Amino acid sequence: MPSLNDIRSTFLNYFAKNGHEIVPSSPLVPRNDPTLMFTNSGMVQFKNCFTGVEKRDYVRATTAQKCVRAGGKHNDLDNVGYTARHHTFFEMLGNFSFGDYFKEMAIPYAWELVTKELDIPADRLLVTVYHTDDEAAEIWKKVAGLPDERIIRIPTNDNFWMMGPTGPCGPCTEIFFDHGEKYWGGPPGTPEEDGDRFVEIWNLVFMQNEQFEDGSMKELDMQSIDTGMGIERVAALLQGTNDNYSTDLIRALIEASADATSSDPDGPGKTHHRVIADHLRSTSFLIADGVMPSNDGRGYVLRRIMRRAMRHAHLLGAKDPVMHRLVPALVHQMGAAYPELGRAQALIEETLELEETRFKQTLDRGLKLLDEELDGLGEGAPLPGEAAFKLYDTYGFPLDLTQDALREKGREVDVSGFDAAMAEQKAKARAAWAGSGEAADAAVWFDLADKHGATDFLGYDTEEAEGQVLAIVKDGVEVKALNAGEDGWAILNQTPFYAEAGGQVADHGYVRRLANLDDVSAVTDVQRFADGKLIAHRLTPERGKLSVGDTVELEVDHKRRSKVRANHSATHLLHEALRVHLGDHVAQRGSLNDEDRLRFDFSHAKGLSEDELRLVGEEVNGFIRQNTPVSTRIMTPDDAREIGAQALFGEKYGDEVRVVSMGRAPTGKGADGETYSIELCGGTHVQQTGDIGLCVILSDSASSAGVRRIEALTGAAAVQHLERQAALVDEIADTVKAQPGDLAARVKALMDERKALQNEVSQLRRELAMAGGAGQGGGAEARDVNGVAFLAQVLSGVSGKDLPALIDEHKAKMESGAVLLIADAGGKAAVAAGVTADLTDKLSAVDLVRAAVAELGGKGGGGRPDMAQGGGKDAGNAEAAIKAAEAVIGD
Ligand code: ALA
Repeated sequence: MPSLNDIRSTFLNYFAKNGHEIVPSSPLVPRNDPTLMFTNSGMVQFKNCFTGVEKRDYVRATTAQKCVRAGGKHNDLDNVGYTARHHTFFEMLGNFSFGDYFKEMAIPYAWELVTKELDIPADRLLVTVYHTDDEAAEIWKKVAGLPDERIIRIPTNDNFWMMGPTGPCGPCTEIFFDHGEKYWGGPPGTPEEDGDRFVEIWNLVFMQNEQFEDGSMKELDMQSIDTGMGIERVAALLQGTNDNYSTDLIRALIEASADATSSDPDGPGKTHHRVIADHLRSTSFLIADGVMPSNDGRGYVLRRIMRRAMRHAHLLGAKDPVMHRLVPALVHQMGAAYPELGRAQALIEETLELEETRFKQTLDRGLKLLDEELDGLGEGAPLPGEAAFKLYDTYGFPLDLTQDALREKGREVDVSGFDAAMAEQKAKARAAWAGSGEAADAAVWFDLADKHGATDFLGYDTEEAEGQVLAIVKDGVEVKALNAGEDGWAILNQTPFYAEAGGQVADHGYVRRLANLDDVSAVTDVQRFADGKLIAHRLTPERGKLSVGDTVELEVDHKRRSKVRANHSATHLLHEALRVHLGDHVAQRGSLNDEDRLRFDFSHAKGLSEDELRLVGEEVNGFIRQNTPVSTRIMTPDDAREIGAQALFGEKYGDEVRVVSMGRAPTGKGADGETYSIELCGGTHVQQTGDIGLCVILSDSASSAGVRRIEALTGAAAVQHLERQAALVDEIADTVKAQPGDLAARVKALMDERKALQNEVSQLRRELAMAGGAGQGGGAEARDVNGVAFLAQVLSGVSGKDLPALIDEHKAKMESGAVLLIADAGGKAAVAAGVTADLTDKLSAVDLVRAAVAELGGKGGGGRPDMAQGGGKDAGNAEAAIKAAEAVIGD
């Protein structure tokens, strides 16, 4: 009996053998289809290959595609657990031809695979074709030898497949399996077709048309094939059952649920186990693909599925959270085919446990309230919308959880009453913020958030996606379109663009209209508005225009994002290295991660020593070379703090925080005690620390009192910086005629030499001055002033600090007298005076200097009676200064 995993390999190998490329499943969040909430069939990732917009290097492909149908158009949520074949998560096997083979080969391939490879008895099979498709009917007759009554012509859309309101489409042919008379039901096209006896197992679509928004349909240039086989259904029939939940893979999950809740998998709690098994798959795969529980959009669908499963676990009597304990069983079953599951196992387990722990706090009280409400209701009466809304608003019961709870009791919810209560609450909230003094343009954003819900951020996982323009705001007012050259803000349903936050700059990039890829707008800023709910892109159409309703291709500037990412991750390593080497008082006080560099401000009183800077730099680069994966998890702020996460002082955190960890260290922290850096952070990071490349610290400076600032470079910028430094060293070595290795000694020698020369020059100048040499102005002769020999001289080329030595020399030469020397240094004056000891009783050098200084435009001057100094800014007044000193002697 083949297992589900065997069937998957048989299918993929069969088509690989027949020239098909095995392409990995695309993520559950479609990157290339803004109209879809989740990937719901195998062809989603190939949509543009069918229309010819995209070319790949293969024309035949085969996939096992993970699909979710919950929320949006295809919503199977309500029936899951209660029927044999409804799932929120399932796998679709498919083979695809892009303009290569068509019906004539697709049908023979399908027939051979089903009857030979999978060994399904041909006499239990029948097919349907679109009523006008004689060609397909003929091929079936020829290839499979099916009689006319087992080739059923269907005139309805059941046999004309469309992916949605627009896009590639075409007639299809479906293969049905007859489970036999023990099941009720009739063949397709009969009134009993919905029974369990005849089950569709494979749909082959002949892609030959494209449907447009205006309702028109045109023939595609090429004819292609898209097929979808539900692996669970095929597993069921090959394993002798018609119940997908009895197949090996899902049964293993049901048994894990029974084990974890110590209950009988087939007892009264049977439905609960089935719901849990199904929801375990969809929630785990969604989390692995980057969806996180929230109150909007995709995140809310995930939360609804999670909480629904959690109620069923609760009904099985589970006291503690259950869902996360089932993840290992799922990874065991599906981890080999979908490695992303194993990679995200810790994140999935933590996210489920966190949600279940939180929801359990209100679940009991909510269920009690529900019982009380029901007690007061008449037979079969619906639950009033108000009550359902209270359960939603106060106890976190999504509407479909309440509906699910009532289904067991044969009751419904008054949905319009629920909607009315919801609308009333929104109106109240709007009145509250409208009256709270928010700026008028803030009101625009809150209105838009109210109307469109939160923007889905895809940028942790991708830098490219398609999106739909939901609104455009220009100068604070909503507009329908932006023309070329006009600047405004666009809101889309989803985006890979990161909005500026947490010190990380906004992404830049391009938005192109899908209808005409030449219509491109440049995105120059991205900001979050309406309490962070909306991500708005500031952009200007360069060509064409951008209108509300446009489907666009969004492309983040990859180079810029990569540089910013490396800087941001390096900041985390730097932060930790500073704490390790300087102490636990180091806390982040601000940061900037842009494309050129990183800047990190932190609390620390004094500058870093050279040794400290070197140690910090070495440690950061050690972790970069360690090249370990950077992990991201979601937890409560308390749990995050418990494992030692660095949180920003004074920052407000929501109920859940993103925790980014990197580096392995024996003395680390975290649950394993070996994680080097753990920080709360919403930014985008490198995948492996090695992606940072290199980190070079440029400077450590004071930012404000008690706060230091480090600036650093990473990646190519760091390498370029080192290269520039090396070139500079070469240039200097060349100039001073030394080998780079001898440069330090050479420069020191040059500096010593320079100092010696300077001393020599001073000495020579002094000697020249004493000799009254050329250019020294005035004579060096003393004259008699009031019986005192007075020598005054103006000197150039002599520095102020040489003056005292010159004064001493003059004094030594003259037996008795006074000396005044003024040095003219480029207009500034230094002055010194000396009086021989025999005269100091009646004449003070200080008075001489002061009198001179006053004329030289200076202030004060001082020293002893035998020697004093001063200075001024007007050396041009030297003669007047000498006269003033003379006057002092004359007194
Ligand atoms: N795209 C087709 C389906 O989903 C094969 O049924």
